Amino acid sequence: MKVLVVGSGGREHALCWAIAASPLCAALYCAPGNAGIAREARCVAIGAQDLDGLVRFAKDEAIDLVVVGPEAPLVAGLVDRLEEAGVKAFGPTAKAAILEGSKGFMKDLCRAHGIPSAAYGRFREIGQAKAFIRERGAPIVVKADGLAAGKGVTVAGTVEEALTAVEDAMIGGRFGAAGEEVVIEECLKGEEVSFLALVDGGHFLSLAACQDHKAVGDGDTGPNTGGMGAYSPAPVVTPELAREIEERIIAPTVGAMAAQGRPFKGVLYAGLMITADGPKVLEFNVRFGDPESQPLVMRLRSDLLPALVAARDGVLDNLDLRWHEAAAVCVVMASKGYPGEYRKGTEIRGLDGAAALDDVVVFHAGTTVEDGRIIATGGRVLGVTARGASVKEARERAYQAVDLIDWPEGFCRRDIAWRAVESGRSPTASP
Ligand code: AMP
Ligand code: GLY
Repeated sequence: MKVLVVGSGGREHALCWAIAASPLCAALYCAPGNAGIAREARCVAIGAQDLDGLVRFAKDEAIDLVVVGPEAPLVAGLVDRLEEAGVKAFGPTAKAAILEGSKGFMKDLCRAHGIPSAAYGRFREIGQAKAFIRERGAPIVVKADGLAAGKGVTVAGTVEEALTAVEDAMIGGRFGAAGEEVVIEECLKGEEVSFLALVDGGHFLSLAACQDHKAVGDGDTGPNTGGMGAYSPAPVVTPELAREIEERIIAPTVGAMAAQGRPFKGVLYAGLMITADGPKVLEFNVRFGDPESQPLVMRLRSDLLPALVAARDGVLDNLDLRWHEAAAVCVVMASKGYPGEYRKGTEIRGLDGAAALDDVVVFHAGTTVEDGRIIATGGRVLGVTARGASVKEARERAYQAVDLIDWPEGFCRRDIAWRAVESGRSPTASP
């Protein structure tokens, strides 16, 4: 098969790494890719948002499957465009990608189908939004309705903070059109889990549960980022809890989307809070997680490519996935200053030494090559990922690799996977 992966982040490097290893893959392309992806795939200079360019390339090269990594081209209808042009594509259509593209849509769907999620209101008028906040009090959560690159959510500890968030979104235009409507919801307490499933329109196949770390600083402090690290398995997700998540959240969501004439194909990623009342949906994403994909592909024993094809073809019920018992931990290295302003163009050394460690893969995100040197070009730059017999062992190995990387302009959290390590819960509880 000739496969094209769309995107340029750590998630796409992880997907390329897994797909390149498939005996079914004869040629692998990535648009636009990065310096690390160039080791697995032929990178082509077409942006992930250039729908015309991507469709043209896929047709000209007779690509057999396009795997779309990021949410923006999915919401913009890349899968629709490819399929209309006769190219098979893994991922939801625009009609189904609205599950991530509009938080208001997602909340209404949960309410209509009894899928557990936080109590909420949807607002297009700022006076009503503010009145709702004053009536409910703090803590309270304010979300821009549309896509905001993971930055559209404010978990407000005070009413003033929530009112400011509403003003920034609705008057300040901080998130553009994505913030013209806001969702304001109850603040849930508990442990967060990323639960991903492959979906083929009707059936689903759960992937191993993961946890990520959204906050920039150790101890989960500071502003939220795209994700500073992730690990799998997530010991909090026991086999019983996984079943409950499937029965109460994944299955009804897949059914509801089909019933609405928006059959969902691709990855359904449920961001969950495990509360005292059970699992509740914080958000749905319509794609693989970043950085969750990095530990996931290192734990996957089965070939990923036929699973993606089966999801596209609507025959996931014939498929099973096998996982390594081992745990995997990904530590993200980012440019100093991220998620705020940061310097671009700094050199990274020592990558070969880190990658030479057993069971370690350094996935790239914001990197490029200049005169044979690896240069950081983004906020999140590397995903240093290691496998180990336990989460603790995987984490030690990941940090051993991090310490071999010579990049004075970069930083990482030093406490990734602290929950799993401190809890002492069985690290290989379930896939
Ligand atoms: P989202 O992009 O909707 O997942 O939100 C980003 C982050 O904000 C989540 O990972 C949570 O840490 C936090 N968050 C979102 N919604 C809530 C909520 N209702 N209660 C508490 N925290 C939340
Ligand atoms: N790790 C969070 C995300 O992929 O949205």
